[in-house]
Amino acid sequence: MRRPALLAGASVVALTAIGMLLWQPAQAQSPPTTSSSTTAAAPASSSTSSTLPPAGEGIGYPDDYAAIGQQYFDTGCVSCHGQGGVGTADGPSLIGVGAAAADFMLQTGRMPLADPQGQSPSKPPAYSPQEIQALVAYVASLGEGTPIPRVDVDAADLVEGGELFRANCAACHGAAAVGGALSHGSYAPSLHSVGEVQIAEAVRVGPGQMPVFDEDTFTDEQLNSIVAYVTYLQDPADPGGFSLGRIGPVAEGYLIWVLGISVVLVFVRWITRRRTHD
Ligand code: HEC
Ligand code: HEC
Repeated sequence: MRRPALLAGASVVALTAIGMLLWQPAQAQSPPTTSSSTTAAAPASSSTSSTLPPAGEGIGYPDDYAAIGQQYFDTGCVSCHGQGGVGTADGPSLIGVGAAAADFMLQTGRMPLADPQGQSPSKPPAYSPQEIQALVAYVASLGEGTPIPRVDVDAADLVEGGELFRANCAACHGAAAVGGALSHGSYAPSLHSVGEVQIAEAVRVGPGQMPVFDEDTFTDEQLNSIVAYVTYLQDPADPGGFSLGRIGPVAEGYLIWVLGISVVLVFVRWITRRRTHD
């Protein structure tokens, strides 16, 4: 009578111990994740672009910004995009591409392009935040185009964002946004180190092979939700405890099962040995 009761008690204690080992409070998890270089890069790049003056319809940059930007343009961009951004054989016309395209290309370091052949990869920006602001003002002054989207992830719906991402983005970027190959040697890049505003800009502008998703396709609210979901994929929470390297739920469950049962068995053996020696 006593032994089964003791065994049951011991198993409960052992399972609780395993549970406590595997459970970690949310705060204990945050230091290692925020110190990782990829997630640290995202808020940094989005905070620089949020210092830009709010861009709306008709653009309200001070005139001197565009004038300063033209000086940078005439040294760094004119060889490919031509005087006044009319375009050359080496680069498209920038008239009417708007602030969003210019900010996206400069914040993700795609411009200035080193090699006009092939896809321009994302790199650390070549210009300071102020220089980017001036260049963006100049390109925006060339003709009315898509303004920099205002991103408000606090108003976002993560579930809707997930649905929209899987339906519209996952085919190219992968369900976990790790990127993937496309036809003709091009690729959809990983989205794990791109800032919030740049995600929204990419959606509205459609760089390279990526389609344009305008206001008729996604409302601003839906865009917020997509941005929130991509940001979530960059640093998913692990409410169940350790992520175990995200090897997958079946493998992780199996590991916990085998580990847990082994610990319980060893514990049970240990108790019964003590009892017989008494
Ligand atoms: C070596 C040539 C080259 C230089 C230098 C260059 N660009 Fe480009 N740029 C390109 C090419 C080619 C494309 C189109 C390919 C692409 O979108 O990746 C492009 C695309 C762009 C676009 C997107 C246009 C669109 O239709 O959406 C913007 C904006 C832009 N460049 C701005 C700049 C700015 C600003 C500079 C200077 C800081 C610059 N570029 C320097 C070649 C160049
Ligand atoms: C047809 C394939 C395709 C689809 C669908 C697509 N993308 Fe892209 N995306 C690309 C390609 C290709 C690039 C790289 C463009 C370049 O640099 O020339 C890109 C670039 C991006 C970037 C810039 C990443 C960086 O490193 O700077 C973001 C952000 C992005 N996409 C988000 C999205 C989101 C969000 C969706 C869904 C709403 C989406 N994409 C749908 C192909 C796609």
